[in-house]
Amino acid sequence: MLSKSRSFLQKVWGSSRLLQTSATQCSDSLFVHRDTPEDNPNIPFEFTPENKKRIEAIMSIYPEGHKRAAMIPLLDLAQRQQGWLPISAMHKVAEVLGLPNMRVYEVATFYTMFLRKPTGKYHIQVCTTTPCWLRGSDDVLNACKKKLNIGVGEMTKDKLFTISEVECLGACVNAPMMAVNDDYYEDLSVKDTEEILEDLKNGRKPAAGPRSGRYASEPNGKLTSLTEEPKGPGFGIQAGL
Ligand code: FES
Repeated sequence: MLSKSRSFLQKVWGSSRLLQTSATQCSDSLFVHRDTPEDNPNIPFEFTPENKKRIEAIMSIYPEGHKRAAMIPLLDLAQRQQGWLPISAMHKVAEVLGLPNMRVYEVATFYTMFLRKPTGKYHIQVCTTTPCWLRGSDDVLNACKKKLNIGVGEMTKDKLFTISEVECLGACVNAPMMAVNDDYYEDLSVKDTEEILEDLKNGRKPAAGPRSGRYASEPNGKLTSLTEEPKGPGFGIQAGL
């Protein structure tokens, strides 16, 4: 019965993915750590002198007794230094905060922003949640996979790119979109996606933001509401009042 309704919906929507499904995660990498040659507790991790100064500045924000609240900024700092978050970096953060390692594991495994396996210089995150999906995110994702010749969760051999499929990144008004590290690229077509990846490959940094000519998330074309002068106070109130 379920498969019948599924194939009916697939015919109606003409897509291999249904509205109520999310991306299949075929790995346990989100939750489980296994020692590997490139990620194990015997590989030393140390913050750079510049980052040690940043740590002091971050820690000074939090009052005595609440220093553990600096955990996410410190994990983020470690990740920015390394490009991803190895287990030794988690241990270093636990040491700085004076906490058991387990407290750090709990946070680092909960937030998908923490990348716990080697990640390319450019982390391509393609949103495939409903608004982006309706606007063609499957085509954007496929363009990334084809152009880079890797699948979701994989890194290119030159260690330049990793592709992730992610849930809503909060830019639905400019769907479909993808994030490259800290930058958002929006209103994407397949051609835009290919151009962005080509630029990055060749060491150029394409301008972030919408590719449609929009400045931000204003209407894409003419105004469809708020098109006349405001009526002023009292408009619509019954005469007897
Ligand atoms: S659905 Fe893609 S950014 Fe919100």
